[in-house]
Amino acid sequence: MSDNNQSAISFDGEDRSNQVRAGILATEPVAIRTFTPSQLVISHSAGAYHWTPEGRKLADFTSGVLVANLGHNPTSWWNRVIKYLGLEKIKDAGQFTSSAPLTAYNAITEVEHDANERLIRNLRSAPGGEKLDQVLWSASGSEAVQKALWAAMRQTKGRDMIIATRGGFHGKKGLAGAITGSENDKERDDRVRFISFPMEECDDLESRKQPIDLSKYKAELESLWEELGERICCVVTEPYLGGGGSYHPQKEYLQLLDSFCVEHDLVFILDEIQSNFGRTGPMYAFTHYGISPDIVLLGKGLGNGVPVSAAVGRSDVFASLGFGEGSDTWSANPLSSAAVLATLDEFASGNVIEQGEQLARIIEAGLIRLKETGVIAKVRGEGCVWGIECAALGGTSSDDVAVACVEACYLGDDDGNAIHLLGALAGNVLRVSPPLTMDPDELQFYLEVMYKLFSKVAATLGA
Ligand SMILES: Cc1ncc(COP(=O)(O)O)c(C=O)c1O
Repeated sequence: MSDNNQSAISFDGEDRSNQVRAGILATEPVAIRTFTPSQLVISHSAGAYHWTPEGRKLADFTSGVLVANLGHNPTSWWNRVIKYLGLEKIKDAGQFTSSAPLTAYNAITEVEHDANERLIRNLRSAPGGEKLDQVLWSASGSEAVQKALWAAMRQTKGRDMIIATRGGFHGKKGLAGAITGSENDKERDDRVRFISFPMEECDDLESRKQPIDLSKYKAELESLWEELGERICCVVTEPYLGGGGSYHPQKEYLQLLDSFCVEHDLVFILDEIQSNFGRTGPMYAFTHYGISPDIVLLGKGLGNGVPVSAAVGRSDVFASLGFGEGSDTWSANPLSSAAVLATLDEFASGNVIEQGEQLARIIEAGLIRLKETGVIAKVRGEGCVWGIECAALGGTSSDDVAVACVEACYLGDDDGNAIHLLGALAGNVLRVSPPLTMDPDELQFYLEVMYKLFSKVAATLGA
């Protein structure tokens, strides 16, 4: 098997998958795909599982990068999407079928109207969501980030400086890229200044339980205020560093940022694109962190797989943008609106949140046990979003151990039990984030499979 991302990866006995992998490599730049040593080819998916063209089944521990919170293709969800589009089923209706249009640019649909009302009501009923009263739709997370920042920067002339938290991930494009990472990355935008995120204080479950000393973070904020003062318009952060390696801070840190914004009349933007819709436990992470953002950014799980994102926030902030300044071809398209309504319905009518909480306990215990294998050094996370940091083993670096683990899970055990993992975040961190609807016994079973596979990796690399 090739070990670099420029040549086609192939596995024995996977003729169709290998053909697809090679074809994709020939017809797409590698830039479109993050590197994974498995390059899983998915033929179809249902619930918490994917199948390869060869018929191999893999448990999905990624939810498609935290998107399919309800699992893949839930039947009741699809039925609701179809119903919201006004399409009970596709009958033989002649050349065209009558339903909501799939694009309504320069027009308004009722499904968009209903999605706005439902989403705002849902957010405002969550403790801390009281300030959120308008929705600015987009198709991707980074567009939502961009639009929220535009609105904050335009609100008051001369106030266009952004404070972001170092090590975050908000996307790759435009201002979303500018607030990602740190000042040490190339091509920085000089309107962005970074403050520290307490990574050391929450680098493992145990350290996160310790009280946090906020004085360093307060001093950084005060020093920026002294330097820039009224030029600052907003503070933007994530509830936890997701792409940055799964660092879930003590809630007092986020509360400090929130109160700094209140004190100085700044817009507090919380990027919940990963965490929304039950990922960290409650529907929105801001409720259990005890904060009240002015704008919340939503995406990923918001449409359970249909591309949709949103900045939901204060109408007085969004009023800084005029007609068309936050619009694009796909913003508020009816398919997205129908998907959001269907996803909200599933959360309202089922026990998704409760099941997610049950899974959280199983994941926590299972991942802590993985430390026994010697492969995992640190465990971080909450709800159904966890990061496990690999250890260096023998002469193998922790980054290479992470790659070996992803590959071992892809190939599976002798009985054909395999797991799809995201890999790796920030070099050596493996993400464990199954759908919230996975069967608890099956989750337990696959964590056991992971334990055995990691023990094998340890025996091979540690020897
Ligand atoms: C917290 C966060 N914000 C923003 C984004 C960007 O979203 P998108 O890739 O849809 O542009 C991501 C993507 O992973 C994310 O995790």
